[in-house]
Amino acid sequence: MAPTSTVLARKYRPQVFDDLLGQEALVQTITNGIKQNKLAQAYLLTGIRGIGKTTSARIIAKGLNCVGPDGKGEMTPNPCGKCRHCLDITNDADIDVIEIDAASNTGVENVREIIEGAKYNPVSARFKIYIIDEVHMLSKAAFNALLKTLEEPPERVKFIFATTEIRKVPVTIVSRCQRFDLKRIEEKPLAEYLQKIAQKEGRDLPEEAALILSHASEGSVRDSLSLLDQALVQIPADISADGIRQMLGLADKTILFDLYTALLAGNTQEAFNAINKQYEIGAEPVQILQDLLNLVYDLTCLKAFAGKYENAGWTKDESKKMKQLAEQSSMATLTAFWQMMNKGLEEVKLSGYPLHALQMLMIRISYSGQILDNPENLIKQAQNCAPMVLSSPAPTIQATTPVETVQIPKEPPFKNLAELANLARQKGQRMLAFNIERMMRLIAIEDKVLCFSPTDNAPKTLSAELTRFLEQATGEKWVLDIQKSGGAPTEQEKKEQKTAAVLENLKKQEDVSSVLKQFPGAKIDKVKPIQTEIIEEPEE
Ligand SMILES: Nc1ncnc2c1ncn2[C@@H]1O[C@H](COP(=O)(O)OP(=O)(O)OP(=O)(O)O)[C@@H](O)[C@H]1O
Ligand SMILES: [Mg+2]
Ligand SMILES: [Zn+2]
Repeated sequence: MAPTSTVLARKYRPQVFDDLLGQEALVQTITNGIKQNKLAQAYLLTGIRGIGKTTSARIIAKGLNCVGPDGKGEMTPNPCGKCRHCLDITNDADIDVIEIDAASNTGVENVREIIEGAKYNPVSARFKIYIIDEVHMLSKAAFNALLKTLEEPPERVKFIFATTEIRKVPVTIVSRCQRFDLKRIEEKPLAEYLQKIAQKEGRDLPEEAALILSHASEGSVRDSLSLLDQALVQIPADISADGIRQMLGLADKTILFDLYTALLAGNTQEAFNAINKQYEIGAEPVQILQDLLNLVYDLTCLKAFAGKYENAGWTKDESKKMKQLAEQSSMATLTAFWQMMNKGLEEVKLSGYPLHALQMLMIRISYSGQILDNPENLIKQAQNCAPMVLSSPAPTIQATTPVETVQIPKEPPFKNLAELANLARQKGQRMLAFNIERMMRLIAIEDKVLCFSPTDNAPKTLSAELTRFLEQATGEKWVLDIQKSGGAPTEQEKKEQKTAAVLENLKKQEDVSSVLKQFPGAKIDKVKPIQTEIIEEPEE
């Protein structure tokens, strides 16, 4: 880090709760406690690095000991910052506020002595306050001394503990504290904060650049300020999003989109071009791959939450592009990409030639992209030899589904269990949809009567959930006619039978078997019909 890296963080350390970003729960509880004079003996602040643990501890200490500018004030959630105690605490010079950094004092015998000093009353302040940072690092002897004090707490002594590793703090200690779990700061407010600080420093930080910085800091304010420090020093003129990307060694998003699109299309040449472009401008192969992983993660979320997912780091244009890419990708591709990239990450990291390792990985992935999202090619080829399996030109895959004995009812909102499951899914009832597809054997659907036999592993709650859902979804009461046996195969079984039949036939084809040979261990687990997205039930 540049020598200036702590400058902004120190310069802008919040002195009152109002200046603190986030941490509302802590602020609210402490404020109420002070106002109602209901204080805990000890406070325990936990959370990741640089989110305000030490800062909050000091504000609390000031609030407890502040006497106001006239020296007559009561304790307050809004310390004046002017009285003797406020000033001394800010300057680390208050004899009644003892700050111990357990990380650098472990095992040192006098830590125990310092803690045992808690028997004595404060010299001049309202409270004697021990702020123990990284408390999980205390020695056994120190913890014992602490525990003794906490068991018989002197009235005018308070403890404020901070730690990044709560699990290493003995439960005997934790249970005697009022605990606050400090949160990571969200990307947008953190970016806005960085813009404000930059402005105070007389520099302009564009929104996109600020968002990239806050995204890279993973919610830690201190990290984000360190990065901003670095940017202010390293980028002398106008700070741009590109400048920040370059500083962080991040890949250019447009090239990243190109790379992903190439993989999706199975276009190895273009994938190579995109990688080389990034490599030339200084992006490390591992970084390129990590960026790709992030992209795949975001796309998967977009897909899983039907477009209702945003990443603060995106600009409007990027957001649009992301939605487009998510639509173009199937869930199967996304999860397969994720797995291959995740596995490849280790290879690239360990390789003596990371660029080559990345390129080889891209070849592997772009081939799988071809297979996953363009199975048409394979299917088309297979079709010539397997007219029984793949009907043409109709895209539906005909398979060996047993003939159903379902009577099509007049006008219920669903004609079969597949449609019922879809209905449930549309209404956000994923679990129910899952169960409908796997646990029900349909016998008949008639006017508001649903007759089926449940599978052995069906949950006991299924019929109750179904009754409730049917009434909710159709506005009418349904009767469930539950039989012990009989009925058609479950939707899931039907799918499996179909897939198995198709796969068996596919595997026999020369083209497919040669592809399988090229990817040892590879399995075909999904075949999509030409033109349509979902394999649909034949209607009759
Ligand atoms: N919630 C916050 N609001 C505003 N600034 C913050 C916040 N948290 C941290 N900072 C900034 O980061 C600097 C470091 O914060 P602080 O020392 O409180 O972090 P910490 O949580 O104790 O981290 P560590 O675990 O590394 O000790 C502060 O001086 C301040 O500039
Ligand atoms: Mg700290
Ligand atoms: Zn004060």
